[in-house]
Amino acid sequence: MSHQLAPAPGSTTIEVSLKIWRYDADTGEKELKRYDVEAPDWVTLLDVLDIIKDRQDGTLAYRKSCRMMICGSCGMRMDGAAVLACKTRMWDIAQSGHVPVISPMGNLPVIKDLVVDMGPFWNKIRAVKPWLEPGYDEVAEKERIVSQQQMNVIQKEALCIMCGCCVSECNSMESDPEFLGPAALAKGMRFVGDVRDQTAVERLNDLNSEHGIWDCTRCYFCNERCPKGVDPRDAIAKLGAESVKQGIDHDMGAKHAKWFVHSAKTTGWLRETELVPKTQGIVSAIKQTKFALDLARHGKVPPPFPPHVADRVQESRALYNLVKEQGRDGALGIVQGEHALGRIEFTEEAGMKSSDPEIQPGVEPPHPEE
Ligand code: SF4
Ligand code: SF4
Ligand code: FES
Repeated sequence: MSHQLAPAPGSTTIEVSLKIWRYDADTGEKELKRYDVEAPDWVTLLDVLDIIKDRQDGTLAYRKSCRMMICGSCGMRMDGAAVLACKTRMWDIAQSGHVPVISPMGNLPVIKDLVVDMGPFWNKIRAVKPWLEPGYDEVAEKERIVSQQQMNVIQKEALCIMCGCCVSECNSMESDPEFLGPAALAKGMRFVGDVRDQTAVERLNDLNSEHGIWDCTRCYFCNERCPKGVDPRDAIAKLGAESVKQGIDHDMGAKHAKWFVHSAKTTGWLRETELVPKTQGIVSAIKQTKFALDLARHGKVPPPFPPHVADRVQESRALYNLVKEQGRDGALGIVQGEHALGRIEFTEEAGMKSSDPEIQPGVEPPHPEE
């Protein structure tokens, strides 16, 4: 049976079909049900769910509030990839004749249909202390002004609407549910990089604990699926760089990162054969000798001696020195993705230049009268 909403003047209607995973946690019943509706051509996935709920099946459960990509309530999966339902236009999909499968977000317990329990998500956000620790209790006599440049360090992280789409797609959380995960770590960077916060080192130490930043597998799915351009993986990379800069490098992940930098600087090459002895120590290397010999026998690793040196190794050394000279060995050294480049363009249009001096996380804001 199909139903029709009145189209807005000038618009037409389209036929939209969805298959939705229906689930009841109380009974354990699960069923993939198909729904067909006729809807105005401007509809989003959320609008289609509303039509189904209003006209066909009032028992369908999903979350929503703002309908405009602000509240973060309507995260769900379409064909296995997390989306915000209110951001997903249905026109192209309906025109192609494809019938998408709608399911709840991953890595969170399902309560009913498309509604997941966000409790584990909020626990992790809470664990990174998502509030400012300015180091003073009294109300400031003067307004403490933070410049746009200082906020640029955490501009992307501040965009998070806590929808959970990144958590839904996180490969590391799938194998280790205790991993803090992309949303909480992006929130962590939002405060580590805030010039008003006085606890960056303490925060970095916490985030370097077990299940912290170094457990990320760098799959970049969180960047891929985040509907707001937060790029949580970039935030995690910034936390790693800041940690190493502050000398917080006890985790194996930090040791790996440091070795890779050293290796690239000295030979222009990632000498993976030396990775284990240099980062895990000789004892661990000896224990893994048989494994290493098997790899070598199958041509999977080059012989460690003499080390292979790239023809133009001076270029990687010059790059290393440049990064050092420019002081970009912390968060500012992280190469940003296309989202950030788009924002730089926007900033320049708004009258600021990308060549304006950048501010390091943790640098005190100069008072305007100074
Ligand atoms: S980082 Fe992006 S995907 Fe993750 S919770 Fe925030 S807005 Fe959602
Ligand atoms: S890049 Fe890291 S945090 Fe992001 S989805 Fe992959 S494992 Fe998770
Ligand atoms: S309903 Fe608020 S983000 Fe979609």
